[in-house]
Amino acid sequence: KRIAIFASGSGSNAQKIMEHFKYSNLVEVTLVLSNNPDAYVLQRADNFEIPSHVFDRQAFYDTDEVVDILKRLDIDLVVLAGFLWLVPENLLKAFPNKIINIHPSLLPKYGGKGMYGDKVHKAVLAAGEEEHGITIHFVNENFDEGEVIHQAKFRVEPGDTLEILKFKGQQLEHQYFPKVIENLAKKYN
Ligand code: GRF
Repeated sequence: KRIAIFASGSGSNAQKIMEHFKYSNLVEVTLVLSNNPDAYVLQRADNFEIPSHVFDRQAFYDTDEVVDILKRLDIDLVVLAGFLWLVPENLLKAFPNKIINIHPSLLPKYGGKGMYGDKVHKAVLAAGEEEHGITIHFVNENFDEGEVIHQAKFRVEPGDTLEILKFKGQQLEHQYFPKVIENLAKKYN
């Protein structure tokens, strides 16, 4: 199965996915895409000799450029790994139930527009939550709303800081995202 990874920033999840499937017979990371020409994920893709494509807002929302590229490359699954733009309808329609996202909270809690990165963990601390975690889910036309595929939890301990929550969440993301992708790819066979 051929996957395309969309990321807007550092791409530590993309890194784990590229590592996981580097020698896989089941999954190939075919392309990395970003809206941000300075995203570190592009460097990471280069390091794995995986091609990348950068697009701008106009191309993404007003043209079929990105969909055409994904179709031409025969992409089976689209993986959003820290991608901050809402997915447009043409892309959703071209890949029904074939677009997944990872989010650093236990959705439906702490999701939606503007809820990303540090803001999520700050809100969790402010609310005094006793547990926190991550969600991997199918993507629909709203931020962080499609059907949940997998969640993983951890306890918020007294004294946990923003950095600690971030770290614990990231560990879970790195642990589960490649596995969830692998399981989906098996199902598509
Ligand atoms: C992750 O926390 C993910 O849940 C969120 O964006 C972050 C991306 O981190 N959607 P990275 O770029 O993979 O390091």
